[in-house]
Amino acid sequence: MRVLGIETSCDDTSVALYEDEGGVAENLVSSQVDLHDVFGGVVPELASRAHLVNLLPLIDALLKRRELTLADLDGVAVTAGPGLVGALLVGLSTAKAVAMAADLPLVGVHHIEGHILANHLTAPMVLPAVVLVVSGGHTEIVHMPEVGRYERLGGTLDDAAGEAFDKTAKLLGLPYPGGPQIDRLARQGKPGRFSFPRPLQHDPRIVFSFSGLKTSVRQACDGLPRPLADQDIADVALEVQEAIVDVLVLRLFQAARRKHVQAVYLAGGVAANGRLRERTAAEAVRRGLHFLPPERVYCTDNAAMIACAGWHHLRAGRRDGLDLDSFARAPLASWR
Ligand SMILES: Nc1ncnc2c1ncn2[C@@H]1O[C@H](COP(=O)(O)OP(=O)(O)OP(=O)(O)O)[C@@H](O)[C@H]1O
Ligand SMILES: [Mg+2]
Repeated sequence: MRVLGIETSCDDTSVALYEDEGGVAENLVSSQVDLHDVFGGVVPELASRAHLVNLLPLIDALLKRRELTLADLDGVAVTAGPGLVGALLVGLSTAKAVAMAADLPLVGVHHIEGHILANHLTAPMVLPAVVLVVSGGHTEIVHMPEVGRYERLGGTLDDAAGEAFDKTAKLLGLPYPGGPQIDRLARQGKPGRFSFPRPLQHDPRIVFSFSGLKTSVRQACDGLPRPLADQDIADVALEVQEAIVDVLVLRLFQAARRKHVQAVYLAGGVAANGRLRERTAAEAVRRGLHFLPPERVYCTDNAAMIACAGWHHLRAGRRDGLDLDSFARAPLASWR
């Protein structure tokens, strides 16, 4: 079975092929970072228009690279949500058109299931597991007994971890998206000069809160000479990253203990963070749990993870009709 994946939930247009043997055959991403950079964040209307311009040529390029036609496909998987509805609709309409034209089964995928199954692209996931989903819009912990069954154990009460990276990076004058910048600059940082809070650390629930971090960082920056020196930025970046990673790791292993699982996973854009991967790996070894980080290219938005999720749906006999609709938000539901 060969599945075409389409992802247009935010500011990346991506198409991919996932096959029975070999997994990801191709994954193309057309980034819109330069388009939105001047605005300091994603402008939904611009994102939709760029998807409209980029998507069909990207599908053409994908098929040409593999010397395939639509007749060589066995199904189409598309992100139905959550995300920017206008952006999602471009992917959804295109997926329906391809499915109709080539008489292929169509399946809608929840974007967060895609992020979780990005782990499957590295090696078959060891299940049951708990997964820390950390992206631009989500921060939650999911118990996953098998592919298609998801139980949300807890999550953030306010900002997502990716948002916390991006907003604090903005205070430091760094370009969008700020997460990769903080990751890079923190390596040059000296520890101990600043200290940021770990809210709800002693709360027995699986909860996070990141909205207060911005105020603490702003206060720390207020005491520094302007323009900020490179070393000051690096020192703040290091402690911001420590504060975020500390609570993420704490909750992930609290959940693993509660559910008696043998494996933990990271998913979403923040899963690319070097310090989070390093700390999770060390803690997993200490507790005798299985952990393999997802490949960095499959952490941020991509269609390979959507094609892989769609492949699982189709193999289980699930498919959607042409009335499949997009949604701005909805919790990840089990389908098996
Ligand atoms: N190395 C990194 N360290 C920390 N954060 C990172 C790193 N790389 C990417 N990020 C963050 O990941 C986020 C983007 O991830 P992703 O593409 O999964 O989010 P999204 O699709 O916008 O949100 P969602 O998946 O919740 O809809 C951004 O907030 C970005 O700053
Ligand atoms: Mg995403």
